[in-house]
Amino acid sequence: MKTFTLNDGNVIPAFGLGTWKSPKNAVYEAVKTALRVGYTHVDAAWIYGNEDEVGQGLSESMAAGAIARDNLFVTSKLWNTFHAPEDVEKGCKETLSALKLDYLDLYLMHWPVAVDPGSESPDYKRVAPEYFIPLSECPLSVTFEAMVALQEKGLVKSVGVSNFGVSKLEKLIEETGVVPAMNQVELHPYNPQPELKAYCEKKGIRLTAYSPLGSGDRPESMKAKDEPPLLANEAVIQLAEAEGMSVAQLLIAWAIERGTVVIPKSTNAGRIEENFVAAGHTLSANTRKGLDEIGISYRYVSPASWFIPGVTYEGEGFWV
Ligand code: A2P
Repeated sequence: MKTFTLNDGNVIPAFGLGTWKSPKNAVYEAVKTALRVGYTHVDAAWIYGNEDEVGQGLSESMAAGAIARDNLFVTSKLWNTFHAPEDVEKGCKETLSALKLDYLDLYLMHWPVAVDPGSESPDYKRVAPEYFIPLSECPLSVTFEAMVALQEKGLVKSVGVSNFGVSKLEKLIEETGVVPAMNQVELHPYNPQPELKAYCEKKGIRLTAYSPLGSGDRPESMKAKDEPPLLANEAVIQLAEAEGMSVAQLLIAWAIERGTVVIPKSTNAGRIEENFVAAGHTLSANTRKGLDEIGISYRYVSPASWFIPGVTYEGEGFWV
């Protein structure tokens, strides 16, 4: 399995199992299947609501000898309601307890927004505007410093962020003096984010591609009308045929060749294996060019619900 060395010297497998949207009952089996077929990296998050079942799959696999903890890379993410520095360790420990682990290999700040812990609603995406904590009151740098402190306590090996654009990264680095090891963002041929990628490469921040297959299983409430499904793009289908791969495999191979970590989600045993095989493929220059020049721009995961002018962003816009 191809790996990348992070800016702190830790090594991350280029390919992992995504678990966003994976139902509890299915993710337990998915994790066990993945580790059995050779995955060494699982991407989780507190807010996915399934870390208990992910952890069950991890611990049973380790107990059965499918993988040793040292060979396993587990990522999780601090939810928005744990941003107050005194809550960061609590958020991390809830995740560790659910995952049944002593430490995380990588811990990411999930979104660059802080939310009052009293605001949780069943539909976490619809936080009422009054529950957002202005960045001036709970700066991202303060949250990040509390995450860095978790490293010293041995609770996490590497720390990074998710959903950060260039200006947020710049500000974070300037204010903390720490360069995050990772920025996990939406990346695929419709949303290749070349400026962000160039900036992260320059700074030594590795990128992880989430929603690499276009996240067609997002809830209907998160989908725009008439969104272009990546897996059904005719040009992409033809490129996959030319490479003798499935479309999903093509997208996975493309992501890794760009130097990004990729975490496709699947709870289907056949597709979990199919995706794993892709990680070892090399694409022809023509195919890469075809994907690089696909000519459609589309972001599937909208930040709109986090976008509160003057509160969750400061002047320049949410993504920059
Ligand atoms: P399933 O879990 O039933 O396999 P993303 O990683 O971009 O969020 O995409 C996840 C979606 O892609 C899920 O609907 C998942 O379905 C589907 N998927 C995962 N692997 C494949 C594959 N090899 N072929 C087709 N669809 C896939």
